[in-house]
Amino acid sequence: MMQVKTSQEAIQLEDRYGAHNYHPLPVVLNKGEGVFLWDVEGKQYFDFLSAYSAVNQGHCHPRILKALQEQATKLTLTSRAFHNDILGVYEKYMSDYFGYDKVLPMNTGVEGGETAVKLCRKWGYEVKGIPDNQAKIIFATGNFWGRTLAAISSSTDPSSYEGFGPYMSGYELVPYNDLETLAQKLEDPNVAGFMVEPIQGEAGVVVPDEDYLPKVAELCKAKNVLFIADEVQTGIARTGKRLACDHANVKPDILILGKALSGGVLPVSAVLARDEIMLTIKAGEHGSTYGGNPLACAVAMEALQVVKDEKLAENAERLGGIFRERMESLIQKSDLVNLVRGKGLLNAIIINDTEESSTAWDICIALKNNGLLAKPTHGNIIRFAPPLVITESQLHECADIIEKTILDFESRF
Ligand SMILES: Cc1ncc(COP(=O)(O)O)c(C=O)c1O
Repeated sequence: MMQVKTSQEAIQLEDRYGAHNYHPLPVVLNKGEGVFLWDVEGKQYFDFLSAYSAVNQGHCHPRILKALQEQATKLTLTSRAFHNDILGVYEKYMSDYFGYDKVLPMNTGVEGGETAVKLCRKWGYEVKGIPDNQAKIIFATGNFWGRTLAAISSSTDPSSYEGFGPYMSGYELVPYNDLETLAQKLEDPNVAGFMVEPIQGEAGVVVPDEDYLPKVAELCKAKNVLFIADEVQTGIARTGKRLACDHANVKPDILILGKALSGGVLPVSAVLARDEIMLTIKAGEHGSTYGGNPLACAVAMEALQVVKDEKLAENAERLGGIFRERMESLIQKSDLVNLVRGKGLLNAIIINDTEESSTAWDICIALKNNGLLAKPTHGNIIRFAPPLVITESQLHECADIIEKTILDFESRF
């Protein structure tokens, strides 16, 4: 295998031989440990993206790697044509950890979303009694749940959906954080479910009003509609609790998890539900060759146990408060920062410029030069989501980098 020696060489190779479906920051990484990443020239960075919240447990966590290595030497894939000796253990572990009757294992987050939509439709027909092919699922504007045709069909972001039609039918949209419109839509007896992120990550860390999720759960229950929570980005301690829904004390009918379920080691996703919903899908009606593979089961159990043992939710809750305080004090010092929002260690700052401006991108380049990696979401918003193993002194060091970078940046203009 050829080895790249410089960042420039790696970027040129990707540009020449890879599809151009991403626009990464110009940094080429080849090592990670805990909250740190290193580029091929040996420069060290704080990771403030955590692979879009997949690396909550920190890069290359030794316990997760040990579980991966031990399982990899025994058995990696059987497919679901046969049983294996770890899938059931994992399913029980997940069921106990999150409090659901059953789990349906998949791989990527978007497959989790697809599975939830299919389950919801099936339940709509078989349990709720919706006439064939009439089931509707409601989504919130600004949603993001991946890149498949089913996912982009619910998107309100033209860069996600434009040029890929025709789209999936049976979808409806309501504005995020708008209970009145949701209540009106739920009057339709053919609505089977409402799928929503407890905090919209890709839309720019949009936190709804405090009563939003409890009222969503209440409205759905009253109308016999399934409340589906997409916790692919917010789940697994990121927002300072096991799930973001735990802040509101609500339990979704269908829960979708992914990303940090493997601590950034493998694509592992899962859908959890009670029997009444889960058992509507029967043998042969849904699946995936790699879904529930032994390697994923071993890795996910260890990744979740690490979250518990290292009290990562508690750490995210405490340090998130400190981080937002630091960023709020930056608003006083800088005209460039408009707003800080988030929960736990899922936060964003809103840059005082137009959505089309390159200011947030340019700040991220300056942050990179100062040893901290973050990426803009939606033009003028910068998300800050470090691995949850970050310590208080590291967090202050990072807040110092962000503050200095933004103040230096501002003084140039
Ligand atoms: C809330 C949410 N759901 C689903 C997904 C899709 O996950 P994946 O990229 O693993 O398919 C994402 C990815 O960013 C997400 O943020």
